Amino acid sequence: MRLAVLVSGTGSILEAISHSGIEISLVVADRECEAIQRALDRGLNVELIERLDFGEKFDRVAFTNQLVRKLEIAEIELIAMAGFGTILEKPIYDAYAGKVLNTHPSLLPAFPGWNAVEEAIIAGVEETGCTIHQATLEVDSGTILAQEIVPILEGDDTSSLHERIKRIERKLYVSVIKRIMNEPDYGSVA
Ligand code: GAR
Repeated sequence: MRLAVLVSGTGSILEAISHSGIEISLVVADRECEAIQRALDRGLNVELIERLDFGEKFDRVAFTNQLVRKLEIAEIELIAMAGFGTILEKPIYDAYAGKVLNTHPSLLPAFPGWNAVEEAIIAGVEETGCTIHQATLEVDSGTILAQEIVPILEGDDTSSLHERIKRIERKLYVSVIKRIMNEPDYGSVA
């Protein structure tokens, strides 16, 4: 199965996927970010589809279409978002129904959105975690494929907690991707 990984951040999860031996056919970034260098260092194919507009006028559908074109040209069959910062539109879910995965740093449906780690600390809960799920048009929803609990420790701040969560995400995401590659129907709801 030809896999693409979508990134916007530091790329530590991308690196873990690559390091696990899973073959990554394409890495796509939506902005200049550390993940690009990590991908290049590992000899991966990288495309930058630079998102220049972060305002209200951003043409999300056009951006998604551009991405889908790149994925199709590269004959991608499975897509793993790993800290990807652009919410995608319908064309990708039409072209890749059930084949777009995401990892999120909370136990969904708790704490969806971009500040999941900070919000868990502010809420004063004792544990949070991470969720690997199929991405859908509705953000941070979709069939949950795996979850793991991570305790919130006294003195944790967003950065220490996020790093503890990411240590789990790196393993859990790899195991889910491997499982899908071996059993392509895993998680399908059809
Ligand atoms: C991960 O914690 C991932 O769950 C989060 O970004 C981080 C990427 O880390 N994604 C989201 O919050 C998406 N809603 P990385 O850049 O070190 O791989």
